[in-house]
Amino acid sequence: MVKISPSLLSADFSKLGEEVKKITEAGADLIHFDVMDGHFVPNITFGPLILKSIRKFTHLPLEAHLMITNPEKYWKEFADSGADIIGIHIECKVDHLSIIKEIQQYGKKACIVINPPTPVEKIYPVLKYVDMVLIMTVNPGFGGQKFIYEVVEKIRKVDEYRKMEKLDFEIEVDGGINRETSKIVIENGADILVSGFYIFSGKDYKERIESLRWKK
Ligand code: DX5
Ligand code: ZN
Repeated sequence: MVKISPSLLSADFSKLGEEVKKITEAGADLIHFDVMDGHFVPNITFGPLILKSIRKFTHLPLEAHLMITNPEKYWKEFADSGADIIGIHIECKVDHLSIIKEIQQYGKKACIVINPPTPVEKIYPVLKYVDMVLIMTVNPGFGGQKFIYEVVEKIRKVDEYRKMEKLDFEIEVDGGINRETSKIVIENGADILVSGFYIFSGKDYKERIESLRWKK
């Protein structure tokens, strides 16, 4: 069964702890925490202090999606604040493999993230080492954007590569996921769906979460 990771970007920030609790009780499998630095993306969100303060409201794995220019400087702060999974972008000018290995040696899961315009082949050299691949289906920076259909082919290719090389990383998809687009990404190999606006704009979070779980 596909896993659902609600993105807190569309939650009510004035009562974030309560929202985390509600979404946990509604049956989420993970919680997605979007970190933006106003440099790597044109928006600023939250940092490790906020992550630490919501940690106590859920037992679910927390994933820190680092949309920041210097993940090598900051990933450890997120790990120490309670993140279980750390996502770094392939578009960052860093030594990805070293950071991935450091994250794993620190006892956390490492995820490589790829933006819509970036050729999928760019992540192939690290696929043997990662725990997860996060494929962006919108250009990062904001919640509630439209799903980019051209990226579906990329999901399919990563799934194909995974089978061919007998690897066991999970494929996660992020951006514009709703009842319709969830079906398409699942059919093409996605294991985990991030969804912000669709889930949090609903009155009944549980109903929204379950509506994304198409059978594989
Ligand atoms: C976009 C973020 C996403 C976003 C997804 O920059 O990385 O996680 O919150 O939100 P929706 O589901 O609203 O597209
Ligand atoms: Zn995200």
